[in-house]
This record gives sequence, structure tokens and C-alpha cells, in this order.
Amino acid sequence: MQLVVQKCELVDISSLDHLLNIKGLEVFLDSDILPADFSGYILHVDQNGLSLSSSLNPTASPTRVDFSDEALQYRLQTSKRSEGLLKAIGLDKYSLPLTVMDATAGLGTDAYIMAAMGCEITMFEKSAVIAVLLEDGLARGQAAVDPVIRMDVGRMSLNFADAGDYLSNMHDKCAASPGSSDPTTKPDVIYLDPMFPPRQKTAKVKKDMALLQKLLPINEDIDSLLEKALGCAGKRVVLKRPGKHSKQASPKPDFQVPGKSCHFQVFLIK
Ligand SMILES: C[S@@+](CC[C@H](N)C(=O)[O-])C[C@H]1O[C@@H](n2cnc3c(N)ncnc32)[C@H](O)[C@@H]1O
Repeated sequence: MQLVVQKCELVDISSLDHLLNIKGLEVFLDSDILPADFSGYILHVDQNGLSLSSSLNPTASPTRVDFSDEALQYRLQTSKRSEGLLKAIGLDKYSLPLTVMDATAGLGTDAYIMAAMGCEITMFEKSAVIAVLLEDGLARGQAAVDPVIRMDVGRMSLNFADAGDYLSNMHDKCAASPGSSDPTTKPDVIYLDPMFPPRQKTAKVKKDMALLQKLLPINEDIDSLLEKALGCAGKRVVLKRPGKHSKQASPKPDFQVPGKSCHFQVFLIK
């Protein structure tokens, strides 16, 4: 993947260095013209924050994380607790605060929906480019004019790490000293929304998801992530999958909850 940073002259990008190795990246100014043969992704930085676009799709509006986005806020106002995601995590069954580990955070939309309903969300994202977009969105959310958005975003924290590694460590610690393991460190729910291969039949994939599908590798480790999550969740594991339902899922979920163009497999911890 070829990635360059394009920035406005007034903006200092050294704060991105802990996620992106800026020194290893080519940085252009807004006034610069990118090389004619450039083919890849452009991380744009200006006073409004970060956004990502692809040189292969120059007319598409850039992808950014914006929790104040009107469509997202409208979705929250209208769907409330009827969202399949919220039923799948058991919001109608358990009392708050419900702790959720979002092991595949992406652009943080699902995490924000859960946080807006009062859940405490710990996110994991292993792609540096996505993590930097998400971190930028969180920073803007924490400074939002709307106090409700500030409060919701305040329930979200981000780890730039591979959730599989984190879960393996957690699993080893619990196995080494089962009696002394602190149950409060186990998240109530572990949520997995991995990258699936793009489906031929899907009519239209949302713009941001289309970018992610081009940019990120498909998760080959879904089975192992699920197995580790099942060993580390307190109450349930939720796996989001494309399509209306899975006929022959393995391991077999306790039940499935339909979503709009996806469904959620729910595994209860007995
Ligand atoms: C389909 S997207 C998630 C979209 C997200 N639910 C949202 O609402 O924006 C999957 C994301 O999970 C990340 N990911 C995949 N495997 C991971 C892992 N083992 N640890 C952390 N992040 C992972 C990918 O980099 C990608 O950004």
C-alpha cells in the first residue's frame, strides 16, 4: 500500500508520529502537486483534522471519523435500542454499565453507537492508518460543542494493538492463575466485526467501507479471534457477519440477530 501525507502548511503533524512513522512517509504540502504516477492513499491533514482518500477514486468524498455527523446522529435518534447491534450485545438484558471490548474498531461507528447507549467501550485497532483517523475523531468528539457527544465519546478508549495478541495474553494470565484472576478485568461483551471478503452480490457497499475493503487485508484469523474471545468474555461474544444469516456456522452461536445488511451471531458464556 502506498501512503502519503498531504498537509496544510500551518499544521504540525509530529503528534501523529506515535502511530504513523512520519519520518518514513513522504509528506507533501497542500500547494504541492502529487507525482503523476502516484497510485495509493492520501492522508490529508488540516485544521479540521484528518481524512483519507484514494488516488484511484478522486471524486469520492474523503473518509473521516466524525461522531457529530448528521446521518449518524439521526440514526441514533431514530433507531434507539431497536438496532440489531444493541440487541446482540444484550443491552435489553443487562444493566449498565456494560463493558464492551470492540476488538475490531475500524472507524468506530459501532463503538460510538454502543457508547451512546451508555456502554463503556475499549477499542482495539491494528491498522495504523485507521487508528490515526479514529484517534483524530475521538479528539474532535471530546471537544465537540454538543455536551452529549462529549459524554458519549468519553466512554470510548482506543488501543492501537492487535486484539488477538491482547486476548492471547489475557487468556494465558487467566489460565496461569484461575483463582486469582480478577473477573472485573474481563469485558462483559467482546464484539468482533472483522473484514470479510467483499461479496459479489452486494449492491452497494457504503463509501467508507469500500475504502476499508480496498485498504485493509481480509481477516484470515476470524476463527482464532472468536475462540480467544470466547475464552475472555464475561457474558457474551458477538460476531458481525455479512448477509441476512449464516446457515452452517461453526461454532454454533446461541442465536442470531438480524441487522440491515448483516447479522450478529451471539455466543453466550455459560
Ligand atoms: C469491518 S472493520 C470494523 C468496522 C467497525 N465496526 C465500524 O463500525 O467502523 C474491521 C476493522 O478491524 C480491524 N482489525 C481486524 N483484525 C484486527 C485485530 N486482530 N486487532 C485489531 N483490529 C483488527 C481492521 O483493521 C479494520 O479496521
